[in-house]
Amino acid sequence: LSCGIVIVAAGRGERAGSQQDGPKQYRLIGGRPVICHTLDVFATWPRQKTIVVVIHPDDEALFQQALGHLADNRTTVTLVHGGPTRQLSVLAGLKALEASRITHVMIQDAVRPFVDHALLDRCFSALADGAEAVLPAVAVADTLKRGSPDGKVVETVSRTGLFAAQTPQCFRFEPILSAHAQAAASGRADFTDDASIAEWAGMPVTLVEGSVDNIKLTLKRDIRMADEKLSRNPL
Ligand code: C5P
Repeated sequence: LSCGIVIVAAGRGERAGSQQDGPKQYRLIGGRPVICHTLDVFATWPRQKTIVVVIHPDDEALFQQALGHLADNRTTVTLVHGGPTRQLSVLAGLKALEASRITHVMIQDAVRPFVDHALLDRCFSALADGAEAVLPAVAVADTLKRGSPDGKVVETVSRTGLFAAQTPQCFRFEPILSAHAQAAASGRADFTDDASIAEWAGMPVTLVEGSVDNIKLTLKRDIRMADEKLSRNPL
């Protein structure tokens, strides 16, 4: 089993106030860009892997600067440009792996810097056990409400059996590449994760235990909290 890794980092991150501060994947937490933390976890994972990073064409300089902050300066990555949606950025990353002889792929959001080796190992084991698609997820803890546009509760939604999806989402390479290519060819560009493309294509998706620390940095506040966490507990 040989793994390709696609780290998607081509988003603009408007919800985190990128207009003033630049895209969130390059914001500093614990003194280093978010993407360096994410990349280091994969680069130091002791398994053979090929890493592709998908960036926005405007971010070449930011990315080169970030590379200088990696824990190991021998880390090699292939760089490709992303598309207007996460889905199309992932497809660009998968295409870049087509020529390498990988059997499986892990697809990771650059903005989840607290992914860890134990989680990668759980995903890897599930792939090694024969899973076609693996989704790390945590059971939803909050009580869920459906709201109306005018701010009223419409109903309480049962949380039984509900999970919050994380990354890395992991797949056999050929089927997920073909599912992604089919989704794009059929004009769908609205999938927000890769497991939903696998579901759409009829691939069975296996749940593995995610990590509560593996949060996605979405809002400005998330970046500040991540920075504070690392200042207290440097990795
Ligand atoms: O926008 P969202 O929070 O879903 O982004 C998740 C990940 O996908 C981020 O790491 C972001 O950089 C990436 N992304 C991308 N290309 C896009 C949009 C998002 O690579 N067009």
